[in-house]
Amino acid sequence: MIVAFATDHGGFPLRAVVLQTCRDLSCQVLDFGTDRPEPCDYPEYARKVALAVVDGQAERGILLCGSGVGMCLAANKVPGVRACVCHDTYSARQGVEHDHMNVLCLGARVVGPGLARILVQTFLTARFDELPRHRRRLDQLAQLEKDVLAGRIGKAP
Ligand code: RB5
Repeated sequence: MIVAFATDHGGFPLRAVVLQTCRDLSCQVLDFGTDRPEPCDYPEYARKVALAVVDGQAERGILLCGSGVGMCLAANKVPGVRACVCHDTYSARQGVEHDHMNVLCLGARVVGPGLARILVQTFLTARFDELPRHRRRLDQLAQLEKDVLAGRIGKAP
């Protein structure tokens, strides 16, 4: 599996363990940085991973920041991205199985390296359950996205 990866300075302490975990699972990593601990802005890093996923360069994405929240908000601005912060293994697995989550966001100020490794393993080894009820709900999500993009609903404030 090809995995797109990025972090800001807040997520930097988990960078090495997440990259190693991906490689231990024989994943190829597209590393979009940052590779240094100096402060930087998470939206530009989320953007690179989100576009790699929706363009099909990568099957999954992993984003790190301090809480996971900023990266998640930014990635979900890109239509086709289904990003979530999952700091428990139940959500990291079910988010893929039921909701076809394609980007995992983790906060390095919330979880340590041991749990981060397990969360990444759980996310990358989970597969979408092709059950009709899950597919129907995904189609509804996609329709919601289309309606907003077409200006049919949800006018921006
Ligand atoms: C950086 O201080 C921090 O705001 C960022 O890493 C992230 O946690 C935002 O959600």
